[in-house]
Amino acid sequence: MIYAVGIGPGDPDMLPHKTVLLLQDADVISGFETVLNLAEKHFNPNAVRISMGYKDQSQKLEQVGELSRAGKTCVVCFMGDVNFSGYEYLERINNDCHESNPVIIPGISSAQIAASRTLTAFETSVFLTFHKRGDISQDKEFLVSALKMGKSAIVIPLPWDFMPAEISRYLIEQGIPSETKVNVFEHLTWPEEKSYSLTLENCKDKFSDVSIMVIGSINN
Ligand SMILES: C[S@@+](CC[C@H](N)C(=O)[O-])C[C@H]1O[C@@H](n2cnc3c(N)ncnc32)[C@H](O)[C@@H]1O
Repeated sequence: MIYAVGIGPGDPDMLPHKTVLLLQDADVISGFETVLNLAEKHFNPNAVRISMGYKDQSQKLEQVGELSRAGKTCVVCFMGDVNFSGYEYLERINNDCHESNPVIIPGISSAQIAASRTLTAFETSVFLTFHKRGDISQDKEFLVSALKMGKSAIVIPLPWDFMPAEISRYLIEQGIPSETKVNVFEHLTWPEEKSYSLTLENCKDKFSDVSIMVIGSINN
């Protein structure tokens, strides 16, 4: 059996109890090394740890699939929540583990923490991610139209091509007022968390790849 679990934004105490119980009992725990490091205090010390990077993820996920078919309880850890910018990795689990439909246990997304920090209700905003493979031009257009409709936007940038500075410049070019408020958060809930309260016009710095933006409604 394979479980796909969101391990939350970084603070190891921000995991659902069900996920903690699963990690304490799992035979196999896998995921990107940086993600595993965030939740390891909950791991069964006897679990097989299968950590991966971008280059070897297919091969490592194949191993997870084999162990699952051998009867082991396998947990694949996702950053934040599986359902926020996590489906490319979920697709890899389906394809590379050769096991479709893992059991998904949601976690707390960085988007939800960013929403809480800025008092941004999801029903008045849009969430979108540029952190994906392939063409992002439709997402860029969607962001502009959502802001023009008066929505706020919670946005995951694309390291290192479409980061907060490039996003802000693009929005100004598309006619979004330069004084529109922007909050950038780095490493939310990590000990080194940082936040920046800016406008599109002065959002020019280089931020960490672990960053998320909240762009205010242009009607406020
Ligand atoms: C592939 S997306 C996955 C998002 C994740 N599923 C979630 O719910 O937060 C990875 C990107 O999310 C953003 N991110 C994840 N955790 C973050 C945090 N604690 N603080 C700020 N940004 C974060 C960063 O932009 C990171 O590069």
